[in-house]
Amino acid sequence: MAFFGIRKPAPAPVRETRQPPRHIAVTMDGNGRWAKKRGLPRSAGHAAGAETFRTIATYCKDIGVQYFTVYAFSTENWKRPQEEVDALMDLFRKYLREAAETMAARGVAVRVLGDLSPLPEDIRELIRETGRIADTLGEDAATASLCINYGGRDEIKNAVRRIAERVQAGELDPQEIDEGTVAGALYTAHLPDPDLIIRPSGEIRLSNFLLWQSAYAEYYFTPVLWPDFTTKDMDAAIDDYHRRSRRFGGV
Ligand code: FPP
Repeated sequence: MAFFGIRKPAPAPVRETRQPPRHIAVTMDGNGRWAKKRGLPRSAGHAAGAETFRTIATYCKDIGVQYFTVYAFSTENWKRPQEEVDALMDLFRKYLREAAETMAARGVAVRVLGDLSPLPEDIRELIRETGRIADTLGEDAATASLCINYGGRDEIKNAVRRIAERVQAGELDPQEIDEGTVAGALYTAHLPDPDLIIRPSGEIRLSNFLLWQSAYAEYYFTPVLWPDFTTKDMDAAIDDYHRRSRRFGGV
């Protein structure tokens, strides 16, 4: 604004100085209800949820979140009707490589975590292929991890088994076992602990997701169904996270 010929300096642009959470994890819940509301089969809800995964994972990379992890199929999900399990496996077949390629082009490395041994061999090969695509990316790529046949208790049980085997083989003294030993034996050994865990769809429970890793995570619950979850919902979750005071047991 000019005042007596003197130009008033423009106000400094508002700069986002807050660091985004380094690692955000999401339980992709509400796909079934989203489909039911539209008179569609549940599989249509999962397909819409897979699209949301792609959009939100890429958005996270764009706003500086380094790690994004989602719960795609739990160790308990095998109990669902066979038709729904098959539809989810087909979705992995259809989307995995394609999502890995399109997301790699945007600087996001897609990786899969969990006990992959019971999955059909063609899906396991697709997961290896996804890993090979991720390996072509440089160090500044963000990581989007899909947890498939994942369960927090199953993960801890497997870690205990692996540590016990190392003790039995004489490679490890039980007195040397510390938190790092356990964390290093989990599927998430290469990931930092999540800072923010989001659960959409109005459910307020953990459902066996990242039990060890969530010790100091901030939780955010929203009624929005996962297929409806937008970048604005992610902004709202991150704003809420920034209002928390993280003390990690201190004062
Ligand atoms: C939970 O919602 C969601 C699942 C069990 C599956 C989530 C999987 C995807 C979105 C597919 C991701 C795949 C790729 C390749 C990105 P729900 O079915 O329990 O929903 P409801 O509680 O409304 O019934």
